[in-house]
Amino acid sequence: VAPLKVGIAGLGTVGAEVVRLIETQGRVLAARSGRGIRVVAVTARSKAKKRGIDLRGVEWAKDPMALATHPGIDCFVELMGGAGDPALSAVEAALGAGKSVVTANKALLAKHGLKLAKAAENHGGALNFEAAVGAAIPVIKTLREGLAGTGINRVYGILNGTCNYILTRMEQEGLSFAECLKDAQRLGYAEANPSFDVDGHDTAQKLAILASLAFGTKVAQSAVYVEGISSIAPEDLRAASDLGYRVKLLGVAVRTAKGIEQRVHPTMVPKSSSIAQVMGVTNAVTIDGEGIPPITLVGPGAGGAATASAVVADIADVARGIRANPFGRPIAQLRDTKKAPMERH
Ligand code: HSE
Repeated sequence: VAPLKVGIAGLGTVGAEVVRLIETQGRVLAARSGRGIRVVAVTARSKAKKRGIDLRGVEWAKDPMALATHPGIDCFVELMGGAGDPALSAVEAALGAGKSVVTANKALLAKHGLKLAKAAENHGGALNFEAAVGAAIPVIKTLREGLAGTGINRVYGILNGTCNYILTRMEQEGLSFAECLKDAQRLGYAEANPSFDVDGHDTAQKLAILASLAFGTKVAQSAVYVEGISSIAPEDLRAASDLGYRVKLLGVAVRTAKGIEQRVHPTMVPKSSSIAQVMGVTNAVTIDGEGIPPITLVGPGAGGAATASAVVADIADVARGIRANPFGRPIAQLRDTKKAPMERH
């Protein structure tokens, strides 16, 4: 069988790690997928930047659009980020050309996920985005495939590594918010615009994606109530600690009689609870299914290696010819998202 020919747009921390993983894990991936995976073309803002990866024999496409429609690629991997162009047009063009797309772009999916899933449905390509939520944690697959036969009542958790890293270091070391954020940026956890992290929007985007998969509703970021952590000071965390609590930025989506309630805000959790033990860049997602005890997935939620791990798994699925409905069911069967009024819990 001919190898799957991959084009990668964006060679930042994640993109470079994807190239490295495809090279180092090539044999294992080929065995699992039944065919090889080859990076044939790339595009990035800087061609000259030192990335420590071997790009000999790999073509440089002139821009994301040229790569997305490149006749020599089967799978377009979008790692540029951002809800708008160039990512949006490039992904649309790739899907329109019948190619499969793998992306880690939660902002794009939260805003245009339906339209993109429809394009994938119409033209036959896959649209895989395991890396968009919880990085290396296989939460998309868990909701979409693993729990396909289970009714879900609630999904909640810590979905932003940067915020959890900041809150952890502020609490443990008494450092200022600004200092911790700077470190999160240096470590490659934060978004290009870190206000997306600290103002809660990144969590809201991920929650909207999880809610769609969990409840069979249309992904709708606008239905999420959002409050971030930027006004929290070390003294607030100390005061909470004195009372036996820790502060976590939680995303919660719950089925109510009035619709799906989706909210993101800092929450005081008892120190003895399992969610309070989740520290640093770690993410945790708990899924309450009907008739079974809750399932919690915990793992690295940000960073190049963790995100690349999920991207490569998605590419391997394309190589194997697996094509899931992106949001778990055909688009025509997704229900409108009825925004439930906020209730006090
Ligand atoms: N900025 C994101 C985070 C990256 O900190 O969780 C992973 O989506």
